[in-house]
Amino acid sequence: MKKALISALSSSSEYISGEQLSQQLGVSRTAIWKQIQTLREQGYEIEAQPRVGYRLRSKPDRLLPEEITNGLSTSYLGQQVIYYDEVETTNEAARRLAQQGAMEGTLVVAERQTRGKGRLGRHWVSPRGEGLWFSFILRPQMLPVEAPRATLVSAVAVARAIRQLTGLEVKIKWPNDLLLEGKKVTGILTEMNCEIDRINYLVVGIGINVNLDPDTFPSEISKVATSISFCLNRKVSRVLLLQKCLEELEHYYNTWKNSGFESILVEWRELSYTLGKWTRVKVMEETVEGLAEDVEEDGSLRLRLKDGRIYRVIAGDVLFGED
Ligand code: BTN
Repeated sequence: MKKALISALSSSSEYISGEQLSQQLGVSRTAIWKQIQTLREQGYEIEAQPRVGYRLRSKPDRLLPEEITNGLSTSYLGQQVIYYDEVETTNEAARRLAQQGAMEGTLVVAERQTRGKGRLGRHWVSPRGEGLWFSFILRPQMLPVEAPRATLVSAVAVARAIRQLTGLEVKIKWPNDLLLEGKKVTGILTEMNCEIDRINYLVVGIGINVNLDPDTFPSEISKVATSISFCLNRKVSRVLLLQKCLEELEHYYNTWKNSGFESILVEWRELSYTLGKWTRVKVMEETVEGLAEDVEEDGSLRLRLKDGRIYRVIAGDVLFGED
């Protein structure tokens, strides 16, 4: 009813009478009025004119489930949304849900994370209302060794989504960072629960710096991170970007499941920032240097070392220039 009302009000810039809304939604005018009050409490600006009707003036800049699912063209990804105004980390919230049997595609989204997690135990800065901090559950029937591909699949999908919505030239830094103008705009953290021969579930966590002002980043981050609004010189609707991401993620995830990984790898290579560059990679406590020649079928990075030997990096961190 709430979603239908938002959708009806959003479909017109004119006033819609209470009578018309009550007929359209099949509920009483009192019920409409009550729901309008609830929406106002959530930050929807709705004008009411006696004997004329209601008109939607503005929507809150929040990632409310009704907004996310309204017009979302996926069949399962993001159709079930768990929303937090504030949470420690959406990855952990999604993991708990997966553990309780939540279905594939369940999305956890938060306005703010108080303990956002990055890779390798790092902290992920996630201020209120300025970015997209979300995680979703996947249950691929695959072997655990195939799981790292989920990160590459997600990177291609989110890069495409940002490109389509903003026209910005997003690149992928192996394995999971999206870059704008050489700085990080998105990070992906995939976590797995598995047995030796099967994946129980994956939680893919994605953080996108959408409307953050890079000057507010902690100093060690501001050297290497940026935001979409900074590069675009205008703010971007987080709801629209999230919907686009979910649609692309579902598309690429389905492709991976149904037709294999090869075509996605081809796209990954096209979007790559890393390939063809002399690259330093932190692997455990060591730093390895070489020419990034290719990404292999298993998602590993193939480096050609100075002495001509090949070195494959399965997990590591490609360093930025001055790191
Ligand atoms: C990285 O680049 O180190 C990965 C960053 C991943 C951040 C996202 S934000 C949503 C989800 N919840 C978390 O705590 N982390 C991921």
